[in-house]
Amino acid sequence: MKKVTLVYFSPTGNTRKSVEAMAAALGGAAEVLDVTTQPAPTRRFGRDEVVIMGAPVYAGRIPAVARERLAGLSADGATCLVVVTYGNRHYDDALLELADLAAAQGFAVAGGAALVGRHTFGEIQTERPDAADLAADAAFAVRALSRGGNAPAPAIPGNRPYREGGSGGKFRPLTSDACVRCGLCVKECPVHAIADDCVTIADTCLSCFRCIRRCPKGAKNMDTEAYRSFAAAFSEKLKNRRENEYYC
Ligand SMILES: Cc1cc2nc3c(=O)[nH]c(=O)nc-3n(C[C@H](O)[C@H](O)[C@H](O)COP(=O)(O)O)c2cc1C
Repeated sequence: MKKVTLVYFSPTGNTRKSVEAMAAALGGAAEVLDVTTQPAPTRRFGRDEVVIMGAPVYAGRIPAVARERLAGLSADGATCLVVVTYGNRHYDDALLELADLAAAQGFAVAGGAALVGRHTFGEIQTERPDAADLAADAAFAVRALSRGGNAPAPAIPGNRPYREGGSGGKFRPLTSDACVRCGLCVKECPVHAIADDCVTIADTCLSCFRCIRRCPKGAKNMDTEAYRSFAAAFSEKLKNRRENEYYC
């Protein structure tokens, strides 16, 4: 069994769930590099290793910050599965971008997956990834790893040059009176966009909503009329379920 390492940027956990299901199907991850709040260390992976690399889609691209966080990784032909999760709109060029990034770092990309997860905004596919998604993710990992060494690289969809994207959104979470200044959100923010008093720093925030999902008091919120009306229309527009795509 090859040594499996997980590498993911996953502010709200969809990507983490899917790459964990893949690793479990391959016998478990020997190492986990969670780059959500810190960069990956400088690491070079050997030919006999497997790396599962995951990130969400932000405006059709890999978040720029996730790209930066992966910069320390390189490989000497290590097998790589690239995984993006997206909120039921589309993944556009993100999977291709992650596959290209991995290849440029010396990984042999054996498979790619574009997976639907709950969208950050609104109420879209809120239960996903669900058990059926995770079972399909696991089966994909096994399938991709059983390809022969001489199999051609999988044809991953997307365009080059990539579309503009990868930046954060425009919503800035608010802090209600329920906040007890525990500092969890300060520590957990991927881009240090929350000051010590737990107030969001507007020009640094990505709109990833990790603080909203994680706050133990429910104090972080996006409770504005403008957000509510955007979210309602957006949820209606993206209500039709999309299916996961697996390439290997
Ligand atoms: C700033 C921003 C931009 C996003 N852009 C897209 C997009 O272009 N297409 C899409 O379907 N989902 C988009 N999403 C939704 C996320 O890709 C989706 O919820 C993803 O699964 C989150 O991954 P995570 O839970 O691992 O953080 C976006 C979310 C954010 C915060």
